[in-house]
Amino acid sequence: MEIYQERMVKAQELLAELDFDLMVLFPSSNMLYLSGFYDEPGERMLLLLLPREAEPIFLVPKLYEEQIKQESPFQDIRIWSDSDDPINLLRRTVADLAVKEARVLVDDGMWVKFFLMLREALPKAKFSLVSRVMVPLRMQKTPHEIRCLEEAGAIADEAFEEIIRSKIAGMTELALARALEEAMKKRGAEKIAFEILVASGPNSALPHYRAGQRRIEPEDVVILDYGCRIQEYCSDITRTIVCKEPSKEIQAVYEIVERAQKKAVQAIRPGVKAEEVDQAARQEITKAGYGERFIHRTGHGIGLDIHEEPYIVEANHLELRQGMAFSVEPGIYLPGQFGIRIEDIVVVTQRGAQRMNRCTHTLQIVE
Ligand code: CO
Ligand code: CO
Repeated sequence: MEIYQERMVKAQELLAELDFDLMVLFPSSNMLYLSGFYDEPGERMLLLLLPREAEPIFLVPKLYEEQIKQESPFQDIRIWSDSDDPINLLRRTVADLAVKEARVLVDDGMWVKFFLMLREALPKAKFSLVSRVMVPLRMQKTPHEIRCLEEAGAIADEAFEEIIRSKIAGMTELALARALEEAMKKRGAEKIAFEILVASGPNSALPHYRAGQRRIEPEDVVILDYGCRIQEYCSDITRTIVCKEPSKEIQAVYEIVERAQKKAVQAIRPGVKAEEVDQAARQEITKAGYGERFIHRTGHGIGLDIHEEPYIVEANHLELRQGMAFSVEPGIYLPGQFGIRIEDIVVVTQRGAQRMNRCTHTLQIVE
């Protein structure tokens, strides 16, 4: 519980530094990070107000009162019941806080209907996004957070090692996705981090294809991209496998991606810019003649969200610092034929990159 008090103090310091008066959070990873409480967003107004110089205030539907008392150290919980109009509670609270002409930061993912209520309650306020405070707070992970990422990564690694020992040709993509989920859950994963991607044959050339009814053929390239959560911290790994001896072209493209991934990881150390890590992977792929077929950024930050800052992308001048966690996942996609991607999560350490995924990069030929 102390951790939330500490984070809240840091958030208030940043709020003051940026000269804002109030932060308003909505059920999100930001709310979880600062208060310890999270639920899926719903139609009922549930907000956490953090003023610059006073205790945080929850505005919640009555049915959440007990749960928040147990899960969060912040006990100024103001409730409304299903027969009230929640805007009245919001109006009273902002009147108490005397923040009429305030500068207010709102949760980036807040549903528009709640933002409109907020604007109605604070017609003279100026609004901006809470990521201005939350990104610098959340980007560098603590040792505890890194342990969660590591544990989530190890479970994903073990699931891979289990799955490549099974007979894959003949399975549908969805069945293989379910098998991966089961392999992670039986090792203690609380939930999957995102919908599991199993892309076989020509589907592997579509980077965000998920998994469908297609049956995996012996000559297919198959991309597996999946992860789980430990204490809400995510893992995210991609491995590309084949079901029989690969063609020369598949083998060659695989080696390029493998080299690009390695080069990018080797480029990581404190002080290096995010774009330089992207460059390291991209150069390798471009040099081999596939630059046009690497159609996405090299990586994304990871933590309570599967995609968060820092983004490892061209033109991101952000300097890497110790404790930052992100994916390194170059890929080459040949439409109508196949795609190859290799992804590991890494954490920036004093000397370089610490991998959160340790399972092999060697092309696995499965049954
Ligand atoms: Co992934
Ligand atoms: Co990823």
